[in-house]
Amino acid sequence: MQYHSTNSQAAMDLEEHHGSHNYHPLPVVLAKGEGIYMFSPEGERYIDFLSAYSAVNQGHCHPRIIKALVDQASKLTLTSRAFHSDNLGVYCKYITEYFGYQRVLPMNTGVEGGETALKLARRWGYLHKGIPDGQARVVFVSGNFWGRTLAAISASTDPDCHDGFGPYMPGFDIIPYNDLPALEKALQNPNVCAFMVEPIQGEAGVFVPDDGYLKGVRELCTKNKVLFIADEIQTGLCRTGKMLCCDHEGVRPDLLILGKALSGGVLPVSAVLADDEVILGIKPGEHGSTYGGNPLACAVAIESLQVLKDEKLDENAAKMGEILRSGLRKMNYKWISEVRGKGLLNAIVIDHDAGANAWDICVTLKNNGLLAKPTHDNIIRFAPPLVITEQQMNDALAIIEKSFAQVEESRMARS
Ligand SMILES: Cc1ncc(COP(=O)(O)O)c(C=O)c1O
Repeated sequence: MQYHSTNSQAAMDLEEHHGSHNYHPLPVVLAKGEGIYMFSPEGERYIDFLSAYSAVNQGHCHPRIIKALVDQASKLTLTSRAFHSDNLGVYCKYITEYFGYQRVLPMNTGVEGGETALKLARRWGYLHKGIPDGQARVVFVSGNFWGRTLAAISASTDPDCHDGFGPYMPGFDIIPYNDLPALEKALQNPNVCAFMVEPIQGEAGVFVPDDGYLKGVRELCTKNKVLFIADEIQTGLCRTGKMLCCDHEGVRPDLLILGKALSGGVLPVSAVLADDEVILGIKPGEHGSTYGGNPLACAVAIESLQVLKDEKLDENAAKMGEILRSGLRKMNYKWISEVRGKGLLNAIVIDHDAGANAWDICVTLKNNGLLAKPTHDNIIRFAPPLVITEQQMNDALAIIEKSFAQVEESRMARS
């Protein structure tokens, strides 16, 4: 059986003709990944500046993670939760001690982690806050992104995610991001069981809230007996320069959702961490997933987490992030209206009115050997694997500088 296209155009044509059209990828085909690099079938090398939306924090095909995968895959991959496996308990102990929670509920994708957190929160609201049955509400912020299920799109304020898929899930309230007075007001409704928020908004375009926002969220949630759910699927696991983004303000959410880099980009693994009062609200048969907590996921997740610590990827993300942002800020073009971010979760904002276009910039970057993707038309996220070295970051900055100069040249030629 031939599993691969050996030619980029053939690979793109097959997808175009036989696949759904729910994505608009950059015209590049990748056949191999190693550390911060990806390679086309023809052997062109690219620096990855997206990291599969922060799933590949540990770098592509990290040898230790791949070894854990292969070793486990040759022994046992799936039992379902109908039976015990010999490593689920080991994983539960490992991850709960790692993050300081009493229990973990394992799932697969990030959006399932979000769904799980919401079910746990609603159940807690009925059992522990006295919310009348069926009346629980959850507060979200505008610009939130937590996936594509019907509940997730019901909470979304992005028309592309939301419109045309109704009817929507009831019981959700939306307030502005980074707005503590709005949160204070929303939490006064006694039927609110939870506030769910990304500590930095990723998909919305890397919006970093004011210092003190997360602390304020923690205080308001505690004061109003509302659960603080932190969606750290994109911001967690060293991406922003700390193990969790909430660590920047020393706050502990009541529910912590992790995904993406929990498997180093190897397979879908997500988790919800919380304490007994929250997590034991769900009883056997009330929630689950065939693959959730599978042996392969457990082995890979333990190794992925251990790599983050052993390689001090939090410290590296903080240091490399500084170098990246200061390098970008030296590139002065009137079509770059902002450079922002924390650690290695960064973005530049393109002013289309000033004559440059984020898509074209990404194509130019690709042609020069660096892969990034626009979000919301005018924002380009720069989020390389956290294993990037200073030399590699300087190489990346040189590619960006060269690409920006080319973009400026063609802008000038047009005007
Ligand atoms: C903050 C956040 N939450 C949840 C998700 C959904 O994760 P998944 O695509 O694995 O379902 C994403 C995906 O980009 C995300 O960025």
